[in-house]
Amino acid sequence: MNCIVTGASRGIGYETVKALSKLTGHQIIAVARTPELLASLNNECRAAGAQSSIHPIAADLGKPESLNQLVKQASLLFSRVDVLINNAGLFLNKPFQDISDSELGRLYEVNVLGVFRLIRELVPLLGSKATANTGAGPSHVVNISSMGGVQGSTKFKGLSAYSSAKGALAVLTECLAEELKTQFITVNCLALGAVQTEMLEKAFPGYKAPLSAAQMGAYIANFALTGQEFFNGKILEVSLSTP
Ligand SMILES: NC(=O)c1ccc[n+]([C@@H]2O[C@H](COP(=O)([O-])OP(=O)(O)OC[C@H]3O[C@@H](n4cnc5c(N)ncnc54)[C@H](OP(=O)(O)O)[C@@H]3O)[C@@H](O)[C@H]2O)c1
Repeated sequence: MNCIVTGASRGIGYETVKALSKLTGHQIIAVARTPELLASLNNECRAAGAQSSIHPIAADLGKPESLNQLVKQASLLFSRVDVLINNAGLFLNKPFQDISDSELGRLYEVNVLGVFRLIRELVPLLGSKATANTGAGPSHVVNISSMGGVQGSTKFKGLSAYSSAKGALAVLTECLAEELKTQFITVNCLALGAVQTEMLEKAFPGYKAPLSAAQMGAYIANFALTGQEFFNGKILEVSLSTP
């Protein structure tokens, strides 16, 4: 399958690409802002005997012109996108009243608007035209949200911008699943609990998560390849703990 994974330079996205690359016959575009880290990912996967090809592309998903460049490059590599994993995310832990407009804007640009725009720009490659050409099943968009973005979940102070953005991603998932289903595009959301990464260490210093990035990456890779056969428009909580 042709896959795009954002936020692939470290943490969960990095491990998701590693897990996909161990399987045979996939083409994976790995996206993040830091080209050196994407190159390390590619080297590590090759050294481990990757069965799939990785195409690192540096892009800032919070900047529309950079996102458009990514879409151009992706359309040169792929005639169809089977799997899009919107994993890139920006974190902010700050008291509500101290959050500036620019911090709020940047967080929403990356965590919400970037995802909105990327799916919108990729619809022609995800959708029915591409499907008709290949005879393949529906494509799968997987939005990576957080337990903090789930209505009724435990909330933590300082996370108003981050968690509200993750909530927006969950509702966006439900809306797009309905609107895009006739175009053979399936959209689901995974609301993750704590996973041991740099972001978690920033969010909850010293807290030990029950899951490693490698465990979660393997789960997301498998879900992205198969979940569209079982779910559409679902917000699935993937969590062992609070937080
Ligand atoms: N870890 C957890 O416990 C946890 C829990 C719930 C949800 N999540 C969600 O899971 C996802 C991955 O989290 P993580 O813990 O692996 O985070 P992480 O270690 O901080 O990694 C974030 C990734 O996103 C990329 N990124 C950030 N801003 C970007 C931008 N503007 N354009 C392109 N790429 C960008 C980063 O790469 P560059 O810096 O190279 O651009 C990096 O690869 C996030 O959406 C996060 O909200 C994580």
